[in-house]
Amino acid sequence: MASVIGYTFWVIMITLLPLGSTTSYGYGNNNNIINVIKFGAKADGKTESSEQFQKAWNSACTSTRAATIYVPKGRYLLKYTNFRGPCKNSVTFIINGTLVAPYDYNELGNSGYWILFNHVDNLSVIGGNLDAKGAAFWDCRRSGKTCPPGARSMTFNWVNNLVISGITSINSQLSHIVINTCNNVIVKNVRIIAPGQSPNTDGIHVERSKWVNVTGTIIRTGDDCISIGDGTFNLFMDQIKCGPGHGISIGSLAKEMDEEGVENVTLRNAIFYGSDNGVRIKSWARASNGYVRNILFQDITMFSVQNPIIIDQNYCPDNLGCPGQTSGIGISEVTYNNIHGSSATSEAVTFDCSPSDPCQGIKLHDINLTYNNKAASSSCNNIKGTTSGTLVLQSCL
Ligand SMILES: *[C@@H]1O[C@H](CO)[C@@H](O)[C@H](O)[C@H]1NC(C)=O
Ligand SMILES: *[C@@H]1O[C@H](CO)[C@@H](O)[C@H](O)[C@H]1NC(C)=O
Ligand SMILES: *[C@@H]1O[C@H](CO)[C@@H](O)[C@H](O)[C@H]1NC(C)=O
Ligand SMILES: *[C@@H]1O[C@H](CO)[C@@H](O)[C@H](O)[C@H]1NC(C)=O
Ligand SMILES: *[C@@H]1O[C@H](CO)[C@@H](O)[C@H](O)[C@H]1NC(C)=O
Repeated sequence: MASVIGYTFWVIMITLLPLGSTTSYGYGNNNNIINVIKFGAKADGKTESSEQFQKAWNSACTSTRAATIYVPKGRYLLKYTNFRGPCKNSVTFIINGTLVAPYDYNELGNSGYWILFNHVDNLSVIGGNLDAKGAAFWDCRRSGKTCPPGARSMTFNWVNNLVISGITSINSQLSHIVINTCNNVIVKNVRIIAPGQSPNTDGIHVERSKWVNVTGTIIRTGDDCISIGDGTFNLFMDQIKCGPGHGISIGSLAKEMDEEGVENVTLRNAIFYGSDNGVRIKSWARASNGYVRNILFQDITMFSVQNPIIIDQNYCPDNLGCPGQTSGIGISEVTYNNIHGSSATSEAVTFDCSPSDPCQGIKLHDINLTYNNKAASSSCNNIKGTTSGTLVLQSCL
């Protein structure tokens, strides 16, 4: 509640202040506003402003009072920028402009990251556009030439109490937003856009993080809309629109032997448009200590989705590097409730579970998935589960 009041307060304050002003404001305890222009940032989209942003960050981060970094309207050219904590107090980034990456993808391509937040507590990043200009990088990758590994657009590592709100991210080289080793995160009203054919442009990736809420988010991209890695506990996703893209995916898991599990993931009120998958759980056919349990997919509409519901535990491209060819990931207590719409293939539900660790406690309730206006089919391997409610599906369970 306090943060909502705080946010409203800042929006009102910012609206009252002259935009682009070079003055820093100090009307008492709460208006510690640090304008990047004051540090020499240029809003022309051509003059590199990384160092100026870094200075603004350092000023905010070392302030003993809560600080707001303000980025006025305009375009700011940034290279790899590492906003490091720990900070002395909370930091709010209000972006009312566009952050643009260099035109030459090599400038970011070897750093792995474009904008990185590291070891910060109580951080909010509000508003603004991110344009990573990924197209030339994707062309390089598709051409088979030697390309740099690429950069994620905005990454949060070890950030606790994080709000990401109102951001639009377009054309990342790799993933758009990565939440890694964070606790208590709210992602809301975010839009993510990249062409359906852009390689590895995941929308939001969550990994080794607890208590993450993603609401009101629109993702159109070339890879997973949301991907969920190991060590994710208590993730709630609500009001998500996905597609084109590869859907919402728990996994790929079991890449490594020692993995933390994935537990308590809920997706509610989602719509998938023409995506490759709807809700997917995916693991390599490799030994692993990981697991997936207590997952709820509820109130979901599919429009012409290739694999609306899929568990694939036999992922092993070219049959390489999967010695036993079975997955050690045990999947249990997964509920699919009120999922309806159209499949783009005859098999709308695929449960291809591990022979060594069969899926257990899988529940289908009120499922209406059609292909060419008829009940779609399903397939089951190594699975125990139940069905209930109204089923318009040729169920194999
Ligand atoms: C972050 O917020 C928590 C809870 O309000 C507070 O205890 C902590 O001191 C804050 N830390 C910083 C760096 O603002
Ligand atoms: C950003 O600028 C636009 C146009 O000047 C304005 O309408 C909007 O209210 C501003 N947003 C914030 C958060 O200051
Ligand atoms: C996150 O979502 C869950 C489930 O909807 C809700 O109970 C919880 O209050 C939310 N947390 C925040 C911080 O909004
Ligand atoms: C998952 O949710 C259950 C029930 O709410 C809770 O008891 C359990 O501690 C949660 N697991 C984790 C890892 O937080
Ligand atoms: C299943 O969905 C189709 C449209 O997708 C609808 O026409 C049909 O009435 C639904 N069937 C049930 C039993 O809800």
